[in-house]
Amino acid sequence: MGKVRAAITGVHGWVPEDVLTNADLEKMVDTNDEWIRTRTGIQERRILKEPGTASSDLGARAVRGLLEKTGTSPDEVDFIICATATPDMMFPDTANIIADKVGIKNAFAFEVNAACSGFLTALLTAAKYVEAGMYKKVVVVGADKMSSIVDYTDRSTCILFGDASAAVLLEPVPVEENTGVMDAVMRSDGSGREYLYLKGGGSLHPASHETVDNKWHYIYQDGRPVFKAAVQGMAEAVQEVMARNGLKPSDIDWVVPHQANRRIIEAVANMMDFPLERVMINIHKYGNTTTATIPLCLWEWESQLRKGDNLILTAFGGGFTWGAVWVKWAYDGGK
Ligand code: ACO
Repeated sequence: MGKVRAAITGVHGWVPEDVLTNADLEKMVDTNDEWIRTRTGIQERRILKEPGTASSDLGARAVRGLLEKTGTSPDEVDFIICATATPDMMFPDTANIIADKVGIKNAFAFEVNAACSGFLTALLTAAKYVEAGMYKKVVVVGADKMSSIVDYTDRSTCILFGDASAAVLLEPVPVEENTGVMDAVMRSDGSGREYLYLKGGGSLHPASHETVDNKWHYIYQDGRPVFKAAVQGMAEAVQEVMARNGLKPSDIDWVVPHQANRRIIEAVANMMDFPLERVMINIHKYGNTTTATIPLCLWEWESQLRKGDNLILTAFGGGFTWGAVWVKWAYDGGK
């Protein structure tokens, strides 16, 4: 094979059975269904309740399903990246643990942490290894047990997040096929760290009585500045990747946005002139599942996707990190 691109050749998602509804949250904190729906678009989320399970168990379920569905043996996988903001532990990393749980042996494996932009960061990284000719069967999995870092007494964050995982298979295709990961704009701004963080348990504030008493092992978010930066960041990244490739909104078949807030998604779609019918939105069912949102959308919409469709994937998250990836879909859905 001559020059290649990395094409998504399969996608699979997994969500836990347990549902946490807005009505359930009304019993836990001072909130109400109307506020949550109008401010965020979320109606319910899934929570991983099985004792002793973690993000790697979510990820392993998605990857196992992906391998079965695409007829790929674990031995064939030569590279696996896991994007997560909720690693099982500080180390070993979650990609290694998922690989072991699904029987992937001797593969290059590592984890990326870019909060809600983690899946795009991992996808672009994996695509570059494929384009370089180093790896041929690559799994990119987003897995987050957000319920493990959410304070269910804090109404400003506990309504937002859910647990899920989803994975894609990447394989090389000749550039003449004109499919795969085509281009990307990825950015970061570390000064945004004051608005969205989890500060306990790392090397700055190792776990102690103080970190636990202060609830530093939970997510902290100052919602308004994050909202503003998210709309601006995603719109600019989408605009840039489209402009430099000569793409107009009418050329785009699907926009696949990170699902943090329905109002953010609508604002970005509006600024970009994308009709909402061509924007994948499932936040009402799952909330913000961090690294899983984008592949979970691809999984749910897979049967509607056609070879050659232009997709713009876009995300914004803690860091700040954000970006947009242009993907040309490589197969007819349902096949
Ligand atoms: N129920 C009822 N009232 C509430 C709730 C609740 N669950 N939460 C907050 N309120 C109140 C606040 O106390 C405040 O009351 P006040 O005006 O009396 O002070 C009022 O509602 C408005 O609060 P805001 O925080 O200003 O509400 P906002 O409209 O900004 O919505 C939200 C909050 C949903 C968090 C929004 O700011 C948001 O979506 N931000 C961006 C999220 C995001 O994109 N994150 C990045 C990805 S996440 C990651 O990387 C891990």
